[in-house]
Amino acid sequence: MTIADRTVLVTGANRGIGQALVEEALRRGAKRVYAGTRQPLAHSDGRVTPLTLDVTNAAQTLSGVEIVESLDILFFIAGL
Ligand SMILES: NC(=O)c1ccc[n+]([C@@H]2O[C@H](COP(=O)([O-])OP(=O)(O)OC[C@H]3O[C@@H](n4cnc5c(N)ncnc54)[C@H](OP(=O)(O)O)[C@@H]3O)[C@@H](O)[C@H]2O)c1
Repeated sequence: MTIADRTVLVTGANRGIGQALVEEALRRGAKRVYAGTRQPLAHSDGRVTPLTLDVTNAAQTLSGVEIVESLDILFFIAGL
């Protein structure tokens, strides 16, 4: 899968597989990584845009749709 110059969104991005995917996407040259988490997240890489996103919360999901201008790859990792 080509990640370089792509825009990626990862749900469950604060730990486990989701966090690892954020780091791997950055390592592979992603242009923008939207990191969806239930709690606020800070990241040192300027390509990371934190999103408050509980995937069971319809309002937060709709808000995410408005914030994310375009998307190439979605990693839906949030462990429900
Ligand atoms: N690890 C494996 O070997 C493996 C293998 C096959 C399948 N899986 C599946 O892959 C998924 C992730 O695994 P993992 O090992 O990374 O799990 P994990 O370490 O338990 O992490 C789960 C992640 O999902 C987030 N999350 C849970 N409910 C959420 C919700 N409603 N909205 C947004 N985020 C939510 C958690 O956020 P909080 O920190 O806020 O709780 C956390 O970031 C799970 O469904 C697991 O069953 C894992």
